[in-house]
Amino acid sequence: MHNIGGYFELEQPKAPIWQQPELHRLASGRACLTAILQHLKPKQAYVPHYCCDSVLAPFRELAIELHFYSIDQQFNPRSLPQLEPQAVLLWINYFGICSDFKTQLTASYHPEQLIIDDTHNLFGFEPSPYYSFSSLRKYFGIPDGALLCAPSASVAATPAPARQTQHLELRAAGQVQQGYSFYQAHEQRFDCAIAEMHPLSQQLMRQVDMLAVYQSRLRNFHLLHQRLGKYNQLDIPSHPVSPFCYPLLTEDAIDRTALSQQGLFIPSLWADVETRRPETPATERHLAQHLLALPIDHRYSIVQMTVLADAVEQLLQTE
Ligand SMILES: Cc1ncc(COP(=O)(O)O)c(C=O)c1O
Repeated sequence: MHNIGGYFELEQPKAPIWQQPELHRLASGRACLTAILQHLKPKQAYVPHYCCDSVLAPFRELAIELHFYSIDQQFNPRSLPQLEPQAVLLWINYFGICSDFKTQLTASYHPEQLIIDDTHNLFGFEPSPYYSFSSLRKYFGIPDGALLCAPSASVAATPAPARQTQHLELRAAGQVQQGYSFYQAHEQRFDCAIAEMHPLSQQLMRQVDMLAVYQSRLRNFHLLHQRLGKYNQLDIPSHPVSPFCYPLLTEDAIDRTALSQQGLFIPSLWADVETRRPETPATERHLAQHLLALPIDHRYSIVQMTVLADAVEQLLQTE
């Protein structure tokens, strides 16, 4: 019998998401994906056109046959393929704003045929019956780190390799340009090896106030949506559970260089989409070229978000 409700027992410590015992703490999203694929052993995989090459690397390394599917302007698959018994589908919760689609997805596929990429949905990520993962270094200044939910897999991870931290140190010291080449070199070193999350990353994560980080993200998302929503061609929910960034797609393309000249660095998601074979459909190419993933993370206050919104708005008005 379950006892639910009534008076409270003594308060029990509850681990933050990254320390939950049901999850594996690995080095990267690629490590998580490799562990899932080694366990499920699919022969074929359905993957979205709209993703970076790092997502595809584990499939390629394991010689899994790839079939690409298309998404619509809400980032949902245009149609859900019928899967052969030895096939899986990889679904990405883009920008953490697609969670509503998960219900349809999980109703359509057996848990052993579905891989949920929650890289952009850290604060909506939780232990579940589904093979899923999220990548921590996309959220925090740590050398590596990812969380894997693999309900019935035994995961044998190798000890964490040494990780460079110069880019983190230089950026902390305000030396943004000097740190950039170290950052690029650091990113280049990630591969699909199933390695553990580095102890330094775990140490740093212990200092993070997860609730404050989450609240800052939500506040910043709402601020940008209030300011820039009227220009946004994307139909995005006004109250997403776990936004990764503020995705902005405007009628007239905004020049990223004009923003970077003002110290506003907006990543390109994802250049790989434009050069990949088989050729990417028009919607995904358009997203890769023009969507701005505006940062909303906990480093930024209302003041900085206002600076960003002002700069974007000014460029839009001078187009
Ligand atoms: C949506 C998505 N999933 C997975 C990955 C791979 O994560 P990692 O770089 O931690 O291997 C990326 C990398 O950018 C990504 O954008």
